[in-house]
Amino acid sequence: MDIKIAPSLLSADFAHLADEVKKVEEAGADWIHVDVMDGHFVPSLTIGPLVVEALNHVAEKPMDVHLMVESPENLLDAFAGAGAHALTVHVEACPHLHRVLSSIRDLGCKVGVALNPATPLSMIENVLDMVDLVLIMTVNPGFGGQKFISFGPQKVESAHNMIAERGLGVDIEVDGGINRSTVASVAAAGASILVAGTAVFGAADYCEAIKGLRRAATRVAR
Ligand code: DX5
Ligand code: ZN
Repeated sequence: MDIKIAPSLLSADFAHLADEVKKVEEAGADWIHVDVMDGHFVPSLTIGPLVVEALNHVAEKPMDVHLMVESPENLLDAFAGAGAHALTVHVEACPHLHRVLSSIRDLGCKVGVALNPATPLSMIENVLDMVDLVLIMTVNPGFGGQKFISFGPQKVESAHNMIAERGLGVDIEVDGGINRSTVASVAAAGASILVAGTAVFGAADYCEAIKGLRRAATRVAR
């Protein structure tokens, strides 16, 4: 499985976002992970489509937009228009998940569905064949720099089995507390898109940080 490292801009220097994007791209990032928070679904408030659009002029790598918002259906057009490559919505924020995922597909973006740590995988059983990626949160969303939740790898493994049993080509993304010590456990369980905020932007050398994550994950990837 091809490993992708997706640095999360949440931990970047917000006064120099364009430079941060260029720096992580030069350091080997595969995707740029953008955390959109609305102050309702999660307490924090971050960035909107205007910033994504501005960054899209600078970024050469795909923008991986993680929508931690209530009623994401109201924002899909705007983020797709801003240049998002992948749009991921939370199952907890979507009573009409099937409709929301169909809308993302119609907009021409990669379709992602995210689950909070306490949300069971059974919530996405009926829509698994509609998505390109399943994002398993390994912290409760809202903040960078939190501690990795220990049952993350088990959940990734269950998702991997569920996808394999159905013969689907869905990628598993993990987000939260991913660093050099935790990355192998999720990669070995089947995750291939690895989001890392603090572990990349908190490092003195972004290139070394990305290389270290990729090396540890590739060694054990399924
Ligand atoms: C959490 C966000 C993550 C976060 C990860 O709500 O979705 O993308 O930035 O940060 P770290 O890697 O520091 O846990
Ligand atoms: Zn995220």
